[in-house]
Amino acid sequence: MADLSVRYLGLDLQSPVVASSSGLTSSVEKIREMEEEGVGAVVLKSLFEEQIYVESTMHLEESDYSEASDYLKNYVRDHSLGEYLSLIEEVKSQTSLPVIASVNCMSVSEWVDYARKIESAGADALELNVFILPVSRGKTGGEYENIYFELADKLKSLVRIPLIFKLGHQFTNLNYLVAQLAYRQVEGVTLFNRFYEPDIDINKLRLVSAGVFSKPEELRQTLRWIGLLYGQHDHLDLAASTGVHDAEAVIKLLLAGANVTQVCSVLYQKGISYIHTLNEGLSRWMDDKGFGKIEEFRGKLSYKNLQDPVMYERSQFMKFFSDYH
Ligand SMILES: Cc1cc2nc3c(=O)[nH]c(=O)nc-3n(C[C@H](O)[C@H](O)[C@H](O)COP(=O)(O)O)c2cc1C
Repeated sequence: MADLSVRYLGLDLQSPVVASSSGLTSSVEKIREMEEEGVGAVVLKSLFEEQIYVESTMHLEESDYSEASDYLKNYVRDHSLGEYLSLIEEVKSQTSLPVIASVNCMSVSEWVDYARKIESAGADALELNVFILPVSRGKTGGEYENIYFELADKLKSLVRIPLIFKLGHQFTNLNYLVAQLAYRQVEGVTLFNRFYEPDIDINKLRLVSAGVFSKPEELRQTLRWIGLLYGQHDHLDLAASTGVHDAEAVIKLLLAGANVTQVCSVLYQKGISYIHTLNEGLSRWMDDKGFGKIEEFRGKLSYKNLQDPVMYERSQFMKFFSDYH
């Protein structure tokens, strides 16, 4: 049987299959099940400052006194944070998995406070679920990007555990953005987060939520950018997320250069035991190809290692697909 172990963020993982942040990683029971199925690491469900804020304001409506309001706000915040820190501690004590915490904050002070507490609770790394929908007509793309850089500067000066930026794909020049994060010594990027999107119900004439689960075709965008970014920055690890639905996708992303591949939708759809199926498929393929270790083939088909990597950069079909009429 092939050796599936990998290094990610300086941590040893038994497999490159990582459970990405979602409701499935919000309980120690499910995470223990994941460990039994051979998961490499888990990214815990994000702690959302916005959610905590909404919860606290819900309680606030019940109180007219400003002093009581402040008390309630702080109580809800500390309680939610406390629960999250307990989850980190429980997972660390009941499993031997690397535990990557995840946060999404609105204000810099909260990012810093949460990050420090998460580090103290024993998380092995912190994934920053940063997403700012650029909807302001008065702000340039660069101004939005600066928010990411300022956050990286601030957190890197205060937190020691590895930091990973989990990014969306809507940037004008993702290569520049990632280079700037690498320059700031960020240890990893996760490409890509997949967000809540709106849809329209034409029968009920209502705005509704689009499907929350990805489709296997969504792998393409992930594959392109992992392939383009592999080997460009010495100390920057790459986690691939979105569209990983089978072992073939895991193998493709490793060939493109991912250190790990994250799975979410497929675990909701096929169950936690599917982690075992993914590992088995990867292992079988490695045996067939004569690879004993993942480092023997990781990045082999990346932009950096291909003689003619033009496919990674091609965006127009032009003559290339002229067979399609
Ligand atoms: C139900 C659900 C909950 C999620 N919650 C989070 C979250 O709390 N934090 C986060 O960074 N990503 C969250 N995600 C995004 C996933 O971690 C993942 O990046 C995305 O679903 C794409 O991967 P997939 O194609 O394997 O589903 C969530 C996704 C789903 C479907």
